[in-house]
Amino acid sequence: MPSARLSVVVTRRLPETVETRMRELFDVRLRESDGPMTREELAKSVKEADVLVPSLSDRIDAGLIAQAGDRLKLIANYGAGVDHIDIGTARQHGILVSNTPGVLTDDTADMTMALVLAVTRRLPEGLAVMQSGDWQGWSPTTLLGGRVAGRRLGILGMGRIGQAVARRASAFGMQIHYHNRRRLRPEIEQELEATYWESLDQMVARMDVLSINCPHTPSTFHLMNARRLKLMKPDAVIVNTSRGEVIDENALTRMLRAGEIAGAGLDVYEHGTEINPRLRELKNVVLLPHMGSATVEGRIEMGEKVIINIKTFDDGHRPPDQVVPAML
Ligand code: DGY
Repeated sequence: MPSARLSVVVTRRLPETVETRMRELFDVRLRESDGPMTREELAKSVKEADVLVPSLSDRIDAGLIAQAGDRLKLIANYGAGVDHIDIGTARQHGILVSNTPGVLTDDTADMTMALVLAVTRRLPEGLAVMQSGDWQGWSPTTLLGGRVAGRRLGILGMGRIGQAVARRASAFGMQIHYHNRRRLRPEIEQELEATYWESLDQMVARMDVLSINCPHTPSTFHLMNARRLKLMKPDAVIVNTSRGEVIDENALTRMLRAGEIAGAGLDVYEHGTEINPRLRELKNVVLLPHMGSATVEGRIEMGEKVIINIKTFDDGHRPPDQVVPAML
C-alpha cells in the first residue's frame, strides 16, 4: 500500500507550474489569495502540517513554533534569507529548516547593478522628465551623473551574491573591494581582482559605491549604523539588495537629506513595508519594492528547490539546502 502523502501547507501564492507540481506530489494546501497569512492562519498551519512552506513575509518565531503540532517536521522556506525563522528554536523542537540558495544569485546581482546605475546615472530623474512630457531636447549640461567605470565598489558580504556583483561590476570597469567575515581563497580573489579589507571602517571610508550583500543576522543588524555611515565619502552612494536591517534606515535618511551621502538605491527596508516617508521625497534615492529575485525563472527555480528539499526529506534524507544555526 502506498504510504500517505506528506501534508504540506504553503503560505503564499507561488508560480503556477510550482503549485501544479506540488499538487502532484503532496497533499498540499495552497493559498487562494496573494496576501500573507495572518498569525492565526500560520498557527493553524503549523498545528496541522508535516511541512510548512513559508516565505520572508511570515514571522516564524519561537511563539509560533511552540504552537506546532507533533507532525511538523520541516520548514521548507521559499527564499534564501531565513532571518524571519527562529532556526535555533525549530531545531530544539526537532524541526528541520531548509532554504533556496543559489537560484536567485544572478537575478539579485543584476538588480544590484541596476540600482548602482540608476542612482549614479540618475535614471528616475530622466524617466520623470519623459513622463512629464516636458523634455526640451538634448542638453550638454542637464542630468549629468557620474561614470561608474573607475569607481571603487566596496562589497559588504562576499558570498554568492557578492561575488556575482563583483563579476558584473568589474565588467563595467569598477574596482572591486570587499569586506567579509572570512577572506576569500586567493584564487577567487585573483579571479575577481578583488581587494580584501579586514577593517570595514577603513573600506567604507574609501569607497565610491558601497553594496550591501550580507545576510541579516544578529551580528549584521545595523552594521551600517550612524557612526559607520558617517565614514562614507559625501560623494559616495550606497545600495542594498540584501536586508534592510543591515542599515540604520533613519540615520541613512538623515544623512541623505543633509547631503552627507550622495545617493542610495534600496530594494529592502528596515521595517518591511513601513518605509521612512522622508526617503520617498529624495531625488537622490531610488526605491524598489524588494524585487531582487523577481524573475519568472528565478521564482520557478526557487519553487523547484523547495520541492527537492521536501522530496528528499520525505525519502528519509537530509534536505540538500538544510540550514543549521552554525551557518548563520
Ligand atoms: C530571499 O530569498 O531571501 C530574497 O530576499 C527574496 O527576494
